[in-house]
Amino acid sequence: MKKLCLLGLVATLASQSVVAETKPAALKDKDAFVSDLLGQMTLDEKIGQLRLISIGPEMPREMIRKEIAAGRIGGTFNSITRPENRPMQDAAMRSRLKIPMFFAYDVIHGHRTIFPISLALASSWDMDAISRSGRIAAKEAAADSLDITFAPMVDISRDARWGRTSEGFGEDTYLVSRISEVMVKAFQGPSPAQADSIMASVKHFALYGAVEGGRDYNVVDMSPVKMYQDYLPPYHAAIKAGAGGVMVALNSINGVPATANTWLMNDLLRKEWGFKGLTVSDHGAIFELIKHGVAKDGREAAKLAIKAGIDMSMNDQLYGKELPGLLKSGEIEQSDIDNAVREVLGAKYDMGLFADPYLRIGKAEDDPADTYAESRLHRSEARDIARRSLVLLKNHNDTLPLKKSATIALVGPLAKAPIDMMGSWAAAGKPAQSVTLLDGMNAVIGEKGQVIYARGANITSDKAVVDYLNFLNFDAPEVVDDPRSAQVLIDEAVKAAKSADVVVAAVGESRGMSHESSSRTDLNIPQSQRDLIKALKATGKPLVLVLMNGRPLSILEEHQQADAILETWFAGTEGGNAIADVLFGDYNPSGKLPITFPRSVGQIPTYYNHLTIGRPFTPGKPGNYTSQYFDDTTGPLYPFGYGLSYTRFSLSDMALSSTTLNKTGKLDASVTLKNTGKLDGETVVQLYIQDVAGSMIRPIKELKNFQKILLKAGESKVVHFSITEDDLKFYNTQLKFAAEPGQFNVQIGLDSQDVQQQSFELL
Ligand code: NOJ
Repeated sequence: MKKLCLLGLVATLASQSVVAETKPAALKDKDAFVSDLLGQMTLDEKIGQLRLISIGPEMPREMIRKEIAAGRIGGTFNSITRPENRPMQDAAMRSRLKIPMFFAYDVIHGHRTIFPISLALASSWDMDAISRSGRIAAKEAAADSLDITFAPMVDISRDARWGRTSEGFGEDTYLVSRISEVMVKAFQGPSPAQADSIMASVKHFALYGAVEGGRDYNVVDMSPVKMYQDYLPPYHAAIKAGAGGVMVALNSINGVPATANTWLMNDLLRKEWGFKGLTVSDHGAIFELIKHGVAKDGREAAKLAIKAGIDMSMNDQLYGKELPGLLKSGEIEQSDIDNAVREVLGAKYDMGLFADPYLRIGKAEDDPADTYAESRLHRSEARDIARRSLVLLKNHNDTLPLKKSATIALVGPLAKAPIDMMGSWAAAGKPAQSVTLLDGMNAVIGEKGQVIYARGANITSDKAVVDYLNFLNFDAPEVVDDPRSAQVLIDEAVKAAKSADVVVAAVGESRGMSHESSSRTDLNIPQSQRDLIKALKATGKPLVLVLMNGRPLSILEEHQQADAILETWFAGTEGGNAIADVLFGDYNPSGKLPITFPRSVGQIPTYYNHLTIGRPFTPGKPGNYTSQYFDDTTGPLYPFGYGLSYTRFSLSDMALSSTTLNKTGKLDASVTLKNTGKLDGETVVQLYIQDVAGSMIRPIKELKNFQKILLKAGESKVVHFSITEDDLKFYNTQLKFAAEPGQFNVQIGLDSQDVQQQSFELL
């Protein structure tokens, strides 16, 4: 092959400005370019490209720059400004082959502007809003010199004890897959080579959300059918949408850690799905192969990982230390290393970095004078997106919306909690820039009414929990206790409640309670806050709970105590304004739950689309020897897809265009949606399908489509869904994705439980 001069090619590509405009030609260029570069690299330089380091206090910057200039680092994460990253790219440009670095970060739900946590975004069921959040996050991150994010996180979570439930998009395969695709496209834009785009690396491949018992980092043991049917599609959706990267999970799968799993990365990801991008280990995961008990030492761990298909090693030294020896002894082949390097170079090519290593770093004179400048934030978008993600769970006697002329007691440890408002994985968000609920309510009330604030309780009175949570943040404590006694705090809140027309209590979890390594055995609101709620209830004043939390909580008692409940998750930079918009009726809530709320932690898992069983519990006809817990009501507190509005909606006249469907045909399912209330509002019409009798047992229903629809008061609309054979396919015992002739039930509802049903037959 003709040798290409790297610098010459860089210049040519730079003059073309965008690398991957016309796919086939670009692909040809890319392969030739990468192969040529690979041919010029020493073993040391190759292994250097496989090293992804975290920028932290452990390694002085000067030493990092030396290592980069020596060609011994391929990329970094956690270094997030242009002035920080420029000297590192300069060092790369001093290296022998001038291979650019990439700069990565966990941009999960916003970068500088923090959007609602992922679970909240999913609650909007609004693909346009979700897409806007991802696009803005990409623009802000790219403007800070970042090239790639470790997102979207699309692990299906059906066990709310798992703290990372907050980071994903809920329990449903179809909804999470739709969002997965939307997020990848939003991050990458028309091309990841564009200056205002960042590459997406979907995570955590695979099945991380299914860790046993919801305990973080635990094992996953799952049948292949369940994997293919329920857990793998969201990752596959990201790959199909063009995600350039994949982060491999920390958990094991059926006895083999993902990081050493050849089936996962080679057979499934590369061969079956045709993935052509970069795989990155999770933090220290190669070393953890020793802890998993599949490698006796670092040498074996490095060998397993490279053989299985981990291209880049995140923050452990094992590739650098062990690959040369493994190669020398013939335990690995040159092609094992070359394949991995090829993917790293290819990803950098796709990010546009060979065309211009400073694509996102820009020129020093253009650096923002103030990284945190208000002008860099996207506040109005954040407010709009946040209010779409709030879910009204209860509204007895139309307690909400509140009157702007009212005297309102605002109490609770989360009423004035800027850090919690951002949620976990808040990227480069600055707590001081987030609007608290107190700020938001005061801004609306102005001179018209009055807000009386009292803290009322600490997040928890369990000191061990506070210490654990404060471990999270290096810069400042996450949870700051009010030193006054619990009783003094409650008395103050009760006094405020007594002098108010209505009480709003902001209660739930601190953000760190729903984070990595934050699994819980108990899904109650902590006792200190429950004592507060009880005391507030005793005042007899109307009680509104504003929940802030990163997972479903078991709030049966609070459901009985409160007049109204608004689930706000962690709503981001503009959270306080968005919540106030809903509380005062300036926005009519439209969110729906993307995950089931259990009545108690003992019911978990409670996901709606479980498989059919031989002795199902039948509501209205309970009895012995059916599937239930006898010590509590069967069924969830709030089902998947549930959420109220300030107006009322009705569904009627469900119809199917035919009672049969041909394999190549189409069926129309329609229903009339009417806004029967007095306010304009949006709701989500949901379509579920059940395969009544298959060659293997099938779920009681599965979400297959939905539409979010805005109707004026009194307006109605016929909503249509098209059903084809593809919607009926599933993975059978041979893992063949096919539909089987027979009867199907179609259900349409405004949540997963309250539905209308019609049937048809697939011929
Ligand atoms: C560990 C987490 O599991 C992963 O999601 C994250 O991307 C990395 N740390 C880097 O921060």
